[in-house]
Amino acid sequence: MATQQPPFNIGIIGCGAIAREHLAAIQTIPGLKPYAYCDLHGERAESFLRDYGGSYAATSPGRLLDDPAINALYICTHHDTHTPLAVAACEAGKNVMMEKPLALTVDECTEIGQAAERTEVIFMTGFKLRYNPVVLKSREFLPNPTFVMAQIMDTRWPDDFWAQDPVKGGGNVLSQGCHAMDMACFLNGTDPVEIFAECGTRSHTNTQVIDSLVATIRFANGNLASVAIGDSGTVPHLSKFAFQAVGGGRSVLLHDRLKRGEYFDGESSESVVQPCELGMELENREFLSAIAEGRRPATGWRDGLRATAMIRAAFRAAETRTAQSLHLPAHR
Ligand SMILES: NC(=O)c1ccc[n+]([C@@H]2O[C@H](COP(=O)([O-])OP(=O)(O)OC[C@H]3O[C@@H](n4cnc5c(N)ncnc54)[C@H](O)[C@@H]3O)[C@@H](O)[C@H]2O)c1
Repeated sequence: MATQQPPFNIGIIGCGAIAREHLAAIQTIPGLKPYAYCDLHGERAESFLRDYGGSYAATSPGRLLDDPAINALYICTHHDTHTPLAVAACEAGKNVMMEKPLALTVDECTEIGQAAERTEVIFMTGFKLRYNPVVLKSREFLPNPTFVMAQIMDTRWPDDFWAQDPVKGGGNVLSQGCHAMDMACFLNGTDPVEIFAECGTRSHTNTQVIDSLVATIRFANGNLASVAIGDSGTVPHLSKFAFQAVGGGRSVLLHDRLKRGEYFDGESSESVVQPCELGMELENREFLSAIAEGRRPATGWRDGLRATAMIRAAFRAAETRTAQSLHLPAHR
């Protein structure tokens, strides 16, 4: 992975909600330049070109993949398209910002990881929660927590939401649960080795997709996590995202969409409050730095694979009523 000189031209594939969040962040980062846009719906790509500037809009990714002026592609499409687009981007030699979940199955995640390794592109999985300063402070304050409690509890997703579609999205647990699994691992500091779970379809009636999950995880360092994921309703103050870590008499509570962190050392408590969610901006700054320095970003394809593998193993554990061992690829 060679060092490269910014600014870097960015191509966006999938001009929807999360792409707008990325572009709002990119506009504050001088080294990243919005350059080209692709969406199956041409009018969406055109409206992005008008709103964020650049050179052209397209309805298929081919032009962006073949364009030597583009350094990096942001893949911000529905989940059933992640694998072919990610592999094509790697094969085209583009650095990749891949929206979560990396893919819906471990086999697909592996295929993407192999493409990223083969082509030696800078490949980032978009786990924006990790980049929030209150989260990073938790790692410093409590690096070896005995317990992590990770909760992502959303308001009920509409039945016709694309992410509830079994093929396009995989349902709320596979869609947003990867954030919870990734955060449980990050706050703990090591890989998971075993998982047990209960799950089911609790908040929707017209679908088979799993929308609710509770899991118990054991990590390589012997510590534990409990994870709850669903769309049965958010909790005031805690918000959709709530994480706790406890160990050695210390504790951390991260909540209010990760704008607040409470750090208790057993005697006194420190509160850190941020005016806004900073994860998306800091994630994009990390992508820029990783490209410029020719290094792996803090969240790569392996992290994406790990999160999907944990959810798939949790589903198997619930189905078989047997704890599942996790076997992950070696760290690189
Ligand atoms: N990091 C986060 O916290 C976060 C939050 C929301 C969504 N996401 C992820 O971002 C991705 C997109 O979600 P969204 O909410 O922006 O969806 P969206 O429906 O708002 O936008 C997706 C866009 O992709 C386009 N598209 C689909 N297939 C395409 C293809 N083959 N080529 C080109 N365009 C295509 C659609 O037409 C649509 O405009 C998903 O992976 C989702 O899980 C991440």
